[in-house]
Amino acid sequence: MRDVAADASGHSIDHARGLLRDAGRVVVLTGAGVSAESGVPTFRGAGGLWKEYRAEELATPEAFARDPRLVWEWYGWRRRLVQQCTPNAAHIALAETAAQRDGFRIVTQNVDGLHVAAARAPSARPLELHGSLFRTRCTRCSERRADDDVVDATSRETLPRCAACGAMARPDIVWFGESLDARVLDEAMQLASGANVCLVVGTSALVHPAAGLADLTRRAGGAVIEINLADTPLTSGATVALRGPASVLVPELLAPDPAE
Ligand code: APR
Repeated sequence: MRDVAADASGHSIDHARGLLRDAGRVVVLTGAGVSAESGVPTFRGAGGLWKEYRAEELATPEAFARDPRLVWEWYGWRRRLVQQCTPNAAHIALAETAAQRDGFRIVTQNVDGLHVAAARAPSARPLELHGSLFRTRCTRCSERRADDDVVDATSRETLPRCAACGAMARPDIVWFGESLDARVLDEAMQLASGANVCLVVGTSALVHPAAGLADLTRRAGGAVIEINLADTPLTSGATVALRGPASVLVPELLAPDPAE
């Protein structure tokens, strides 16, 4: 059954709340839209450009090989921007629910760390499918480290270096054309296949394999609830599609029943 209605009617959200109430296991898949109201620009649509570049032109191994200074300049800019942002009501409601409810897990495509910042319990920590803006990885020895320093992209010589071997470090982010970390992807697929509900928040659902996770839930007999400002390729297959801002709809969806 599919139930797409104006959310002002209260109908769809009640249906979605019922599905979540009855679900033993819930997987939440988030995208850039969940952080938009924290001030983090989304990738696609209005505001999705940096200087004259699109994310797809910068977030590739080829772009880094061609011009690591330019790519680091972009990531340094994003790191600084995100450091000024704080989790919004959607991140907080998701983290609180994950802390209180067994079998409720957050999987994110975002590299902004805002789900991590909102998590006050280990069970609320997200699975980060695409890596993190706040980690680097060595291009030679693959050593990873936490890194929230200001990036000096004045020249190639000033770019971040590996503390272990001195080679150039890169953002620990999965770029276009690269594979996701196999263990992270496997865990996400298991969570999605085993979930009674997949709640998808603020993603254009254009980038795979993340966009395929909701289908795993659906094919295993679970329901899909989508929260987005606009329709996406997932909308036609969603059990309930709620239209509106994540910071309003997510807390409303996850609020305890009045009787509880
Ligand atoms: N509330 C809900 N949804 C929103 C909001 C909001 N306040 N603002 C924007 N959206 C929706 C948009 O309608 C869009 O569908 O969020 C989605 C953002 O889509 P993208 O910018 O494409 O971001 P995402 O889906 O996360 O991108 C996937 O692509 O560039 C790569 O690796 C990067 O992880 C990223 C992946």
